[in-house]
Amino acid sequence: MRLFNTTSKFSRLIGAASAAAGTLLLSGCFWLDGPQSAFDPNGPVAQRQMDLFYVTCWVSLFIFVVVGGVLAYAMIKFRARGEADEHAEPPEQGHGNPLVEISLIGASVLALVIIGIPTLSGIWYSYDVPIEDKADTYEITATGYQWWFKFDYPGETAQTLDPTGKVVNAPFSTANELVIPAGRPIHVNLRSIDVIHSFWVPKLAGKVDMMPNRGNHLWMRADKPGYFWGQCAEFCGESHAVMRFRVIALGPKDFNDWVNAQMQPARKVPVVADAGQAKAQPVVADAAQAKAQFADYRTFRRNEAGYSSKFDASPMEAWRTKQSPEPGEHPALIEQGRVLFQAKTCASCHTIRGDGYIGVVGPELTHVGARTTIAAGLLENNRDELHRWIHAPNEVKPGNTMWVAGYVANNIKLTPEDEDALVNYLQSLK
Ligand code: CUA
Repeated sequence: MRLFNTTSKFSRLIGAASAAAGTLLLSGCFWLDGPQSAFDPNGPVAQRQMDLFYVTCWVSLFIFVVVGGVLAYAMIKFRARGEADEHAEPPEQGHGNPLVEISLIGASVLALVIIGIPTLSGIWYSYDVPIEDKADTYEITATGYQWWFKFDYPGETAQTLDPTGKVVNAPFSTANELVIPAGRPIHVNLRSIDVIHSFWVPKLAGKVDMMPNRGNHLWMRADKPGYFWGQCAEFCGESHAVMRFRVIALGPKDFNDWVNAQMQPARKVPVVADAGQAKAQPVVADAAQAKAQFADYRTFRRNEAGYSSKFDASPMEAWRTKQSPEPGEHPALIEQGRVLFQAKTCASCHTIRGDGYIGVVGPELTHVGARTTIAAGLLENNRDELHRWIHAPNEVKPGNTMWVAGYVANNIKLTPEDEDALVNYLQSLK
């Protein structure tokens, strides 16, 4: 007690600081619909996980209040009220009370049963698609790479061109943006190419580890169309925190349209326009003029956010816009970018169906221009951010393969004109 009297100012300060910190922490709890909040479930699996959290939370709170209440009661009722109490002999000690002990054992078992039943049934439920919904299941394979996600669609067959220009079938995969049909159960096979990652879409389902040499899986369903944030939830190296992805759930027609568009080989913007196309978009035919229009890109501060507030306000709207070609495309630059993609060795790591590029080390880019984000969900997919990424990927995602095993190992240098052409090419891939 003496310590507290002499330092009463100090203790009051500590008290005030704790109260402020507590208020701040609590206020975090009230922001429940943030983009990665598990308190805003949009599907049955996430709902079940949240329900289980609340059961555990209420049981723990009940125990905390009962035990804390008894403790507080004892401390106040039996406190020393003066010098005499402080030096008094301790009262006679009891040796066990069968009623209290049996009641405590019973209460503990009851608490465990109350938590255990929904936990076990939740584990069963989230393990696999319920038998009655099996027939409607859509299959996806998600693979973790340092540091991005690859999504294969084993049920779809895409098209590509063989060296003679003939259309042939190819497997379909995409990266970092998982587009799914809303309302249907999605069975996700979880794989890893390197270290342990973890697949988590807080509003839909997760988290389940993606482990090397072990096939894990989970299932999820988005109740209605929407745009959801995902995140790798297992420390997997220096850029773990920026290993993100998106899930875009679409209604049946939108999803079909998306699949049909994605099955096509890479979009071509003809350098010499025919009459019909000249009307549709301004076309610049010669490369000299292309150079004259070399674009300005804004510069970014280190660690500057990769999103505009407009994108944040409505990512789904942004996604829809990204599905169609942007105005003011520059065919000559696009063609130049297509050639540079090979010349600068980008093609040895990335696949672009129909353009003859078949690398498998990095993300598939056949329709990269139709995605809302790049760099594993870290940057908004627009010209400035794409330029930022191509210009210095190490400043955005430290240690990434494109920088270490690409730019540095192969001593790749890009001039501002090269970067401009590559940005134009990649943005044209709708
Ligand atoms: Cu992948 Cu953390």
